[in-house]
Amino acid sequence: MSEIIIKRLTDPFFNSLKLQVLQEIEDIFFESSAKKTFKSEKEKLDLKWKYLGFYLERYPDFVWVAFSEKVLGYCLGMPITQDDELYLAQPHLKVFEEQYKDYPAHLHINCHAMARGQGIGTRLIEELEREFRAMGVKGVHLMTSIDARNRKFYQRLGYDYECELPYLNTPILMMGKKL
Ligand SMILES: CC(C)(COP(=O)(O)OP(=O)(O)OC[C@H]1O[C@@H](n2cnc3c(N)ncnc32)[C@H](O)[C@@H]1OP(=O)(O)O)[C@@H](O)C(=O)NCCC(=O)NCCS
Repeated sequence: MSEIIIKRLTDPFFNSLKLQVLQEIEDIFFESSAKKTFKSEKEKLDLKWKYLGFYLERYPDFVWVAFSEKVLGYCLGMPITQDDELYLAQPHLKVFEEQYKDYPAHLHINCHAMARGQGIGTRLIEELEREFRAMGVKGVHLMTSIDARNRKFYQRLGYDYECELPYLNTPILMMGKKL
């Protein structure tokens, strides 16, 4: 495989590849999602907007892409989680509002199933963290669950703050890292 390039989605490198890259990010998103069946096309579109479309539209400069002939993974986020439009899309985020003074930024990450366990996720997260740090952001967080395999991945990267709270009877694990 040729060299793995990690760049922002808005980097001119992706200009002529934009449609391919957006489609492959979407494919990785749905492949990585726990939800596989949808009652309607609208339900599918809503899920895509919630965790992907919102960021692509509103915060494209905070989308990092790993690419080698095709997209291998992406990491996206935003520096300030306390945002009314975001809360509308992801109401569960409000439950953790108290924690956002120490961990204001957040991220989502997914790698292609064939590209996991090769350090690509680590490199992607480091790019976004570097960006937040350069902006003077105090901390970053993400949401997962206590028994998820990715929990160890985040712990190894320094996400040593954990807070589990229920939303609609489902426990959600917030993990945070000071920057
Ligand atoms: C979690 C993920 C982004 C990590 O990226 P990566 O490039 O695979 O990770 P790295 O190679 O840098 O580090 C390896 C670690 O990632 C985690 N990992 C590897 N494959 C994984 C998989 N299929 N699912 C979940 N975590 C995985 C493990 O903690 C692994 O460490 P281990 O081998 O000691 O168990 C990636 O594996 C992935 O997309 N997993 C599935 C979707 C997911 O869990 N997304 C995060 C939602 S909160």
